[in-house]
Amino acid sequence: MTDYTVMTHPLIQHKISKLRDKNTGTAEFRALVEEIAMLMGYEALKDLPTEDVCIETPIEECMTPVIAGRNLAIVPILRAGLGMVSGLQALVPTAKIGHIGLYRDEETHEPHEYYCKLPDPIDERLIVVTDPMLATGGSAVAAVDFIKQHGGKHIKFMSIIAAPQGIERLLKAHPDIQLYVGHVDRELNENAYICPGLGDAGDRIFGTK
Ligand code: PRP
Ligand code: URA
Repeated sequence: MTDYTVMTHPLIQHKISKLRDKNTGTAEFRALVEEIAMLMGYEALKDLPTEDVCIETPIEECMTPVIAGRNLAIVPILRAGLGMVSGLQALVPTAKIGHIGLYRDEETHEPHEYYCKLPDPIDERLIVVTDPMLATGGSAVAAVDFIKQHGGKHIKFMSIIAAPQGIERLLKAHPDIQLYVGHVDRELNENAYICPGLGDAGDRIFGTK
């Protein structure tokens, strides 16, 4: 399997433990997802290219680094990936936001697309795809397929909890992406839910169950 990064920072692990707790309510759950996305983003974006520009401080002129190149694109997989957007936007407020709508068929667990709108042009941007859950990997593979079909090249994928099967499937289909996960869980159950996981991320973020 190609390489991927697991976030070992204690703050991230602590917040993931609170996410898992079934007694964590919607408002706290949503805030935690946002905070984890920001902390993960800090690490995942550490290789952003910079260029020196001339800035005049109150004291003197100096050459100092700023983020180089075209803007970042953040692309959440709807619905649950939306919960991670504001955390990343806090880090890069000028990022453009795309959306990919996918839902898993409850019987087959295969993803179905219902929406795709990406910033144009997409080919020169660094694209950060967000989805808190990487289970079978079907949704992640489909999302990266769409982005590549639209011309996306430089893709990072951020997921808070991942199953080993999902990681393997995603990196087998797309070995060129950079994958960042908050924690790798044990396995999937017969309904393709991650164990121990946190339940249905979309429902917990939006309070729909
Ligand atoms: C969840 C989750 C991922 C997908 C992961 O979304 O947010 O997108 O399942 O599962 P997979 O790796 O097996 O594809 P879901 O389909 O439940 O849609 P929702 O976000 O609208 O609730
Ligand atoms: N989607 C979720 O929201 N949770 C899982 O455990 C698997 C897929």
